[in-house]
Amino acid sequence: MPLVIAIDGPAASGKGTLARRLAVHFGLPHLDTGLLYRAVALLMLDAGIDLGDANEAARTASSLVADQLADPRLRERAMGEAASRVSGIPDVRAALLSWQRRFASDEAGAVLDGRDIGTVICPDARVKLFITASPEERARRRHRELTGRGEETTLAAILSDIRARDERDSSRSAAPLKAAEDAVIIDTTELDADEAFAAARHVVERAREH
Ligand code: DC
Repeated sequence: MPLVIAIDGPAASGKGTLARRLAVHFGLPHLDTGLLYRAVALLMLDAGIDLGDANEAARTASSLVADQLADPRLRERAMGEAASRVSGIPDVRAALLSWQRRFASDEAGAVLDGRDIGTVICPDARVKLFITASPEERARRRHRELTGRGEETTLAAILSDIRARDERDSSRSAAPLKAAEDAVIIDTTELDADEAFAAARHVVERAREH
C-alpha cells in the first residue's frame, strides 16, 4: 500500500524541513505545495497582472509547469504574502488540485506539505501530521532563515506577516488552514529540528505497522 504522508501547518512551523527529511528517510518524492501558490503569484507579478484578478490567476494556475517551481525568488518573503492572496481564489485551488493529486499517486507514495493536504488534497493519506509552533517562535525561525539568505528584514516585520498570514489562511472559505480530525498534532515550539523529526518519524513508523 502506498505511503502517503500529508503534512499541514501554518507559515514557518518547520513543516517544510520536516517533510524533506521524512521524504529522504522513507525514500519518497516530496512536494512543497506552497511553491505552487508562490509560482502562480510570481508569474502574475512578472506579467504585470493584479493579484486580485481571479480569472487570470486561475488561468495561470492551470498552465503551471514543474520547471517554474525552481525560481529562487519563490522563497522570498514578499512571495509568501502574494501566494497567500492568490490561494484564497477557489478556481486557483481547483486548478492546482489535480496537479497535487497526480503527484500523490506515485506507486510508492509521497510526502506533501501545505495547508489543506490532510483535509482536501489527500483525505485518505496513511499519515497526517499537523505541525505548529507559537507565532513568536515561528517568526524567530523565519527571521534566521531570511537573514541567513541575505534578505534585510526585522523580527517585528516577520511576526506581523506571520500573524496576518495565519489570519488570512485560517479564515478563508476555500480550504482554510486547519488540522484534519485524524491528524497527529506536533507542537515544535520547544523542539529542535532533530526532536521534531524523531517525533514525526515515530508517528509514521507506527502507522506503517498497522
Ligand atoms: O507554505 P508557504 O509559506 O510556502 O505557503 C505560501 C502560501 O500559499 C500560504 O500562505 C497559503 C498558501 N498555501 C495554501 O493555501 N495551500 C497549500 N497547500 C500551501 C500553501
